Amino acid sequence: MKRQHTALITGANAGIGLALSAKLLGQGYRVIGTSRSGYIDALSHPQFYCLPLDVRDPSSIEACKQALARMATSIDLLINNAGVADDVFQTVPDRPSFENTFSTNVTGLVFFTEAVIGLVPPGGQIINISTDMSLLTEIAVNGPAYRMSKGAVNIYTKMLAQRLADKQVTVTAVHPGWVRTKLGGDQAPMLPEASAAGILDIIFAQKNSGEFRNVATGKHFVL
Ligand SMILES: NC(=O)c1ccc[n+]([C@@H]2O[C@H](COP(=O)([O-])OP(=O)(O)OC[C@H]3O[C@@H](n4cnc5c(N)ncnc54)[C@H](OP(=O)(O)O)[C@@H]3O)[C@@H](O)[C@H]2O)c1
Repeated sequence: MKRQHTALITGANAGIGLALSAKLLGQGYRVIGTSRSGYIDALSHPQFYCLPLDVRDPSSIEACKQALARMATSIDLLINNAGVADDVFQTVPDRPSFENTFSTNVTGLVFFTEAVIGLVPPGGQIINISTDMSLLTEIAVNGPAYRMSKGAVNIYTKMLAQRLADKQVTVTAVHPGWVRTKLGGDQAPMLPEASAAGILDIIFAQKNSGEFRNVATGKHFVL
């Protein structure tokens, strides 16, 4: 009998993370979603579990790691989805937004990944949700902390891809499209379900590690 795969998704209580959770459950995955509250009321499924996690807090990461070790022997798919975009309507950086954005999108993502990386088996995948706004060819004046933080995510993606190559774990940075969520706003053209479907296509097709993939355009390149 085929072993059931487990996916771990940060920020699964809303937006793209919630839509990804529903899609992966539909594909037969066991899904462990995290939320800051420790509850995800919007989704109920016998194979869906929720763990509390605030990626900015080292003790929360440690508690989540301990809980994971008790419930999962392996994490076949880690999706680092949790993120904030506090300053997208600003051009001048302000320290509170900058610190919150880096602490969530960079330090949080990196140290959560490092905490759970030992649970990702050979053949496993790590998806880091990035943005096309981070690409040097797309730089504009707004969102200084957001763009720089996701640029750092792309760099970590490439470094991790190199580090985990021998273990055959693939690592990919993904632009999910401009998506109608709390972060993306009401004007965004893509619904979370469509974005999640695009991310799933990338996950199932994925062969090469260390790439940036764009759900909206289908374009991809080696980081
Ligand atoms: N929407 C877009 O157009 C778009 C475009 C490009 C990239 N992205 C990226 O896609 C990802 C998902 O965003 P979304 O659009 O789905 O936004 P969203 O609906 O606002 O969801 C963001 C998720 O991140 C969680 N989160 C925020 N801070 C956290 C922390 N300190 N610890 C743990 N979880 C935290 C949120 O939890 P709470 O509900 O508790 O705040 C929420 O679950 C983000 O990384 C974002 O940068 C989105």
